[in-house]
Amino acid sequence: MRVQNAVVLVTGANRGIGSALVTAFLERGAARVHAGARDPGTLAAVTAQDPERVHPLALDITDPTSVTSAALTASDVTVLVNNAGTHAMGHLLEMDLRDVEAVMNTNWLGTLRVLRAFAPVVESNGGGAVANVISVGAFGGTPSMGGYPASKAALNALTQAVRLDLAPRGIAVHAVFPGPVDTDMLRLTTDTLPAMTGFPRATTADVARAIVDGVEADAEEIFPDPFAEQIGEEWRRDPKAVERRLTAIE
Ligand SMILES: NC(=O)c1ccc[n+]([C@@H]2O[C@H](COP(=O)([O-])OP(=O)(O)OC[C@H]3O[C@@H](n4cnc5c(N)ncnc54)[C@H](OP(=O)(O)O)[C@@H]3O)[C@@H](O)[C@H]2O)c1
Repeated sequence: MRVQNAVVLVTGANRGIGSALVTAFLERGAARVHAGARDPGTLAAVTAQDPERVHPLALDITDPTSVTSAALTASDVTVLVNNAGTHAMGHLLEMDLRDVEAVMNTNWLGTLRVLRAFAPVVESNGGGAVANVISVGAFGGTPSMGGYPASKAALNALTQAVRLDLAPRGIAVHAVFPGPVDTDMLRLTTDTLPAMTGFPRATTADVARAIVDGVEADAEEIFPDPFAEQIGEEWRRDPKAVERRLTAIE
């Protein structure tokens, strides 16, 4: 779909990939971008880019009341980008189960909650698009990354399922699989998993532009950086090789 004149909602828009997505959608001519954040006070720099077109929106995707209220406020959305996500390092058999629950509750259940609230909004505005920011980590359970790969694999399955439900309602659904991107989340990973420092890392600006390109190209799967493209190619050819590659990161 064309992004020109679209009304976009980006969740987790106050930093990292989310903040760069706001910029990329503005560059591409979106009429308005609702910038979702748990604390709208953290959105000053994002809003300052274009105060007319960027609307700060209080949105905690784990809080049903917050999500319902956001859907009432941002009732003009035609493109939803489910970017908000979280991470906790540790081994699944040993780490605190509450950390695993928190990751699943945000990355999977939180995204589903936002989708359920906003699908009727996008539909009532004549249809549009949803892009779910997953991760190449969905293709293999790196042992020390706790519940994160599982949450992203679950999000991938959710994305596939809702694609069929939303197509007849005029909503295209995109699965986005970034590789390592230079953000706070990647720093958390490299701090505890030095092997990750050896991987190439993309900039948030490049990744955000590639995501917008993918939405405009109607790509079902978007691999928005060179490392992700490489994994995507290998995954199409030999999914087991990708699993081996990702589970071997220690
Ligand atoms: N960086 C990478 O290498 C990489 C690779 C593949 C996929 N991804 C995915 O890309 C997305 C963005 O990640 P990032 O790297 O930009 O991470 P980041 O810098 O840590 O940003 C995460 C964003 O999600 C928000 N968030 C977390 N929990 C939330 C909640 N309950 N409700 C609303 N917002 C919430 C954070 O808000 P607060 O400021 O309030 O915490 C922040 O804005 C995530 O889905 C991540 O899994 C990242």
